[in-house]
Amino acid sequence: MTINPQGQQDKYRGKISQRVERLSPSGIRKFFDLLASMEGVISLGVGEPDFATPWHIREAAIYSLERGYTMYTSNLGMPELRELLSRYLKDTYNLEYEPGGELLITVGVSEALDLAMRAIIDPGDEVIMPDPCYVAYSSCVILAGGIPVMVPTSEENSFEVSAADIEAQITSKTRAILLGYPSNPTGAVMPKDKLKQVAEVARRHNLAVVSDEIYAKLVYGVPHTCLAALPGMKGQTILLGGFSKAYAMTGWRIGYAAASSEIISAMTKVHQYTIMSAPTMGQVAAIEALRAGKDSVAEMVEDYNRRRLVIVEGLNDIGLSCFEPKGAFYAFPSIKATGMTSEEFAEKLLIEEKVAVVPGNAFGKCGEGYVRCCYATSLADIEEALSRIKRFVDRHC
Ligand SMILES: Cc1ncc(COP(=O)(O)O)c(C=O)c1O
Repeated sequence: MTINPQGQQDKYRGKISQRVERLSPSGIRKFFDLLASMEGVISLGVGEPDFATPWHIREAAIYSLERGYTMYTSNLGMPELRELLSRYLKDTYNLEYEPGGELLITVGVSEALDLAMRAIIDPGDEVIMPDPCYVAYSSCVILAGGIPVMVPTSEENSFEVSAADIEAQITSKTRAILLGYPSNPTGAVMPKDKLKQVAEVARRHNLAVVSDEIYAKLVYGVPHTCLAALPGMKGQTILLGGFSKAYAMTGWRIGYAAASSEIISAMTKVHQYTIMSAPTMGQVAAIEALRAGKDSVAEMVEDYNRRRLVIVEGLNDIGLSCFEPKGAFYAFPSIKATGMTSEEFAEKLLIEEKVAVVPGNAFGKCGEGYVRCCYATSLADIEEALSRIKRFVDRHC
């Protein structure tokens, strides 16, 4: 019998499912734990807006509580929210989704991603995704019994995934392609022509494309292309979106999936047994966000853009060459010049200078040699973090 750090008998050893055993603990979580025990840390670690949710959205939710809106909603989500979402997708991308069967309101994109994988994957199915990518992608595939297949991307190619590289990984077991652009962790945005080439591969091989577009509204000087809106792609795409990032609503836990009625009904089967319905108060807040949140989003995007320019220029000046991110709110500088691994860099920087960044290898092998810096924090903190990073790099190079 083994003893765990708390001194209790480890009764469950050997009793945890292999799928769960196979998951590596999130590389991000490890740094947050370390960070939580320290004082005076500037965090560029957490991928979360520093803004509070716009007041009118909070107020709508508070008012709904006062009126006693505290019950479950329909499994699919509040009809009013689905109507508004349907209109939003039509107005933004000219995509038509039936609110009664092609839209599902979920507990963030996190749940939507999990549902999508569980709905389409059978044991042994392969899902192709870019490396580096958001930490949950490969884990969700593994939890659904599938096998993640990584396609390398690189700074030289602006961290855009190539259609030819995807096609080279397709086997008889390939079930889907999972994309997330604008990208966490790199900030890369896929240009329309490159995305069209990927869509062409998906169509040729009849593969589903799961497109996580949670950062769709956070783009700087370039357009976001919605994968489902490309010719012939609506029926083949599971479009995931949410309110966490653009509306500064991470804690409200509202996301959505838009797809064919067959896919949405399969996802709803899992959702109804595991979740029932997304949080009612969060859904009310999302209704207000869709109705009247446009100006608040525009203001936040402008602010992120100012911070983006400062951090990218600052990192390059320090000698950490930084690819220009065109979306999301992450900078992904190379730390190769320091001779350290990503983990060494992040750990030493935290201990010596109290700046938290996330090692790039947390997002896949191709993230090694980079760190992720989230710039959704105040300009004052970004500037202080840059001067600490400079001191650190000067000392070690
Ligand atoms: C690319 C990406 N997808 C999904 C999520 C999860 O978002 P949500 O809060 O909607 O669950 C995140 C959160 O960091 C993310 O970066």
